[in-house]
Amino acid sequence: MQRRSLIAGAIALVLSGLAFAADAPIVIKFSHVVAQDTPKGKAAEYFKKLAEERTKGRVKVEVYPNSQLYKDKEEMEALQLGAVQMLAPSLAKFGPLGVKEFEIFDLPYLFDSYEEVNKVMHGPIGAKLYAKLETKGIKALGFWENGFKNFSSNKPIRTPEDVKGLKIRIQSSKVLDEEMRSLGALPQVMAFSEVYQALQTGVVDGTELEPSNLYTSKAFEVQKHLSLTGHGFLGYAVIVNKQFWDGLPADVRSTLTQAMNDASVYANQIAKQETDKALAAIKASGKTTIYTPTPAERAAFRKALVPVHTKMIDRYGKDLLAEIYKETDFKPVQ
Ligand code: LMR
Repeated sequence: MQRRSLIAGAIALVLSGLAFAADAPIVIKFSHVVAQDTPKGKAAEYFKKLAEERTKGRVKVEVYPNSQLYKDKEEMEALQLGAVQMLAPSLAKFGPLGVKEFEIFDLPYLFDSYEEVNKVMHGPIGAKLYAKLETKGIKALGFWENGFKNFSSNKPIRTPEDVKGLKIRIQSSKVLDEEMRSLGALPQVMAFSEVYQALQTGVVDGTELEPSNLYTSKAFEVQKHLSLTGHGFLGYAVIVNKQFWDGLPADVRSTLTQAMNDASVYANQIAKQETDKALAAIKASGKTTIYTPTPAERAAFRKALVPVHTKMIDRYGKDLLAEIYKETDFKPVQ
């Protein structure tokens, strides 16, 4: 089924020039893997609204949330083949496209606040990363923020020792893999759509999810403990197939660019409040105990995890890391 739709997509891409010439609306299939009621889900819907209104129906955006069409890895292939036109994968999932530099955003404790993330994503460093994608036939249209990730499991996690020996589900990034190994945990790469079941059946013991994903996927219902370690950031790049994008009529492309710029502003405005809302909802459910590590416990996590920055230097290079350190005034020990 999936293969058939990939082939159909590839044919659609070849024929796209003809399609634009006809009167039928240009269809943008926007696939993503999380719920509609998340920062990414809401921003995708907002983009759809703006794009359809402003192009006066010349463009139709079909948003497919919850991995309805594809899981993490498959959606990347689908984009390259033209079976879908738009995605917003997390920055931890760009390695298979050959742009491993995006994994720098996965580094533990690299950012202490949304302000620091903002400076990096929406400044010259972000622009440099966009350019890297273009060489892979992909165009990036915006960075969307989500929030800080926390450890969850069925046993309390207060110190790095508590993570030792746990099987933790991670996204496909090599930086995240090393992060878990540094703690003595056993990383398990898994598509987001499989996390709930894997936790429920004990295939994995824990996660490092950010609150809106932990809440909307219902993973919190099968995790007794959440520890607000805030050890890493989850963000996205909205991407399109470059051949599709370059083949759009120029006026449509510029209207869509503006719609995406506005949707990105919206995405980044709502991210923190959506994350806080999800955390409050998890708390109110009474199903998961939420623990805030003490300053000493947080310092112990930093001490165990910050060495990953230098260990994984081959993924992104020392110059990019130095640029981010400078932009955020990073201090290894706090
Ligand atoms: C995850 O796989 O945990 C996240 O990347 C899901 C998402 O897209 O927010």
